[in-house]
This record gives sequence, C-alpha cells and structure tokens, in this order.
Amino acid sequence: MRTAVVTGASSGIGEATARRLGRDGWRVLLVARREDRLAALARELPDARVVAADLTDDDAPARIAAAVDEQLDGRLDLLVNNAGSSKRARFGDEDGGYATVRRIMEVNFDAVVRLVEELLPVLRRSAPSSIVNVSSVAGRVAYPRGGAYSASKFALAGWTEALQQEEAPHGVHVGLVLPGFVATEGFPQDDLTASARTRWMVSRPEKVADAIVRAGPGGSPEVVVPRAYRMVPVLRALVPGLVRRATGQLGRGEVGETARRP
Ligand SMILES: NC(=O)c1ccc[n+]([C@@H]2O[C@H](COP(=O)([O-])OP(=O)(O)OC[C@H]3O[C@@H](n4cnc5c(N)ncnc54)[C@H](OP(=O)(O)O)[C@@H]3O)[C@@H](O)[C@H]2O)c1
Repeated sequence: MRTAVVTGASSGIGEATARRLGRDGWRVLLVARREDRLAALARELPDARVVAADLTDDDAPARIAAAVDEQLDGRLDLLVNNAGSSKRARFGDEDGGYATVRRIMEVNFDAVVRLVEELLPVLRRSAPSSIVNVSSVAGRVAYPRGGAYSASKFALAGWTEALQQEEAPHGVHVGLVLPGFVATEGFPQDDLTASARTRWMVSRPEKVADAIVRAGPGGSPEVVVPRAYRMVPVLRALVPGLVRRATGQLGRGEVGETARRP
C-alpha cells in the first residue's frame, strides 16, 4: 500500500488530487482547516484519514508527523504541498502592505518548508519517495496586485529547485508543479470563463491532479499545466517588454477583474 499526505485537500486542486490518488489505490492523509469538508471527502475515498490543521500553526508539522506515524504506519511515499492562498492588492494599499506579504509567505512558503523539514526523515526512510510542491505560473512571472502571491510562489519554486538536487541522493524525488488559471471553489475564474476570448486560459483541478502525479511518483522534475503556459517564462526571457504589457493588463483588470490567481 502506497501512502500520501495531501495538504489543502478540502477543496479545488487538493481535493481532486486526493480523489485521483484514492482511485489509484493510495492511502491518503487529508490536511486542511475545514474538518467537516475533509471528513466528507474521506467517507467517499477507499482509504483516507484526516488531520484538521492550520498549517501556519506552530504545532501543525508535528501533528501531521504524528498522524503519519499512527495512521500511515510510519511510511510516507508522497507529500503533496498544495495548500495555499492569495490576496490581490497593491503594495502600499491599506490591505496590501507588509502584513499581507508576511501572511501569504507564511501560508504559501514557510508552512511548506516547515512541513518538509518535519517529514524529511520519514520520506528518506520510505525512499524511493517523493515531494510535490505546487507553485504557480505566477511563480515565474509577476503582475500588478499579485506581488505577495508571486513572491511566495517564486520563493517556493527556487527553494524546490535546490531541494530537488539535494534530496536526489537520498532517494526523495522533488517535483514542482506550476499551474496556470484553474477554476476552483476558492478561485472560480468566472470572469475568464464568461468570455469565449479568455475561456481557453482556464483549466480544471483534475488536470492539475494528473500533473501532480506526473511530478511525484511519475518522476518529472517540473510540470507546467496546461502545457500552453510553458511559453510564459520563455516569452518572459525573450520578449520581456511584451510580457510586461500583458501582465500589466491582467493586473489592471482589463482582461477581467475577479478570481485571477495563477
Ligand atoms: N486556482 C488557480 O488558478 C491556481 C493557479 C496556480 C496555482 N494554484 C495553487 O494551487 C493550490 C490550490 O489552490 P486551489 O485553486 O485549489 O484553491 P482552493 O480551492 O482555495 O484551495 C486551497 C486549499 O488550501 C487550504 N488552505 C489554505 N490556507 C490554509 C492553511 N493556513 N492551513 C491549511 N490549509 C489551508 C484550503 O483549505 P481550508 O480553507 O479548509 O484550510 C484549501 O483546501 C494553491 O497553492 C494555489 O496557490 C492555484
């Protein structure tokens, strides 16, 4: 039996990943704050356990490690660091200052680093095993009002690339997934799906779940999903002025206003 921890499993990409792993025969430990949502999902999966935790709490990593010991028999084949949140605001606006940057960094970056630190010993003991960190295309290209989010996702991508090389000798594969726009409960992307001009830009959580499996047990070092978004960092390097104009439009809301958080 293969075992996995999936953070942010109460909705969106994390829920889709837990369902995919459940179908594939994994025992899954579901982590998020909304316990009722996790319990309902666990009842639908063949073999799932639940830990309700705010990942920014001091004791969250130790509680999850204890659950791995008790509920997954001390074995961990896959850790999916998917939980994350965003706040769209300009730096200097009332709700966009350092406090916001710090909060988003705590959830999207610090919490991942703390959980990986806690679970690395069991991942190494369980090798060959894997970690998948869910960054974003916004972890390669930034746009106005997405500064805090991009900072956290750039940080996560950079840290993941180093960890990948450090952990290879220990048999722990580290994969990075960079989704573009995905319609989820938290981020329905209604403005983009409303128009035929922009609908193509929006993907489904199930596609990201497949990408997570490719980046983890499948062994890919990095997966951009949907594939078309692979051009974004390439264009950023080749024609930065063009990309700045496009991201500037996104930031000003000229392509649609709400739920934009790749
Ligand atoms: N949707 C997109 O367009 C998109 C694009 C690129 C990358 N991503 C990334 O994909 C990941 C999943 O996002 P999603 O689109 O599926 O959004 P979502 O539906 O809002 O899901 C976010 C998940 O994270 C959990 N979470 C948030 N803060 C937490 C905390 N402090 N402690 C524990 N769990 C926490 C939430 O659960 P609770 O509220 O129950 O705690 C929820 O399960 C995120 O890292 C996001 O940055 C999303």
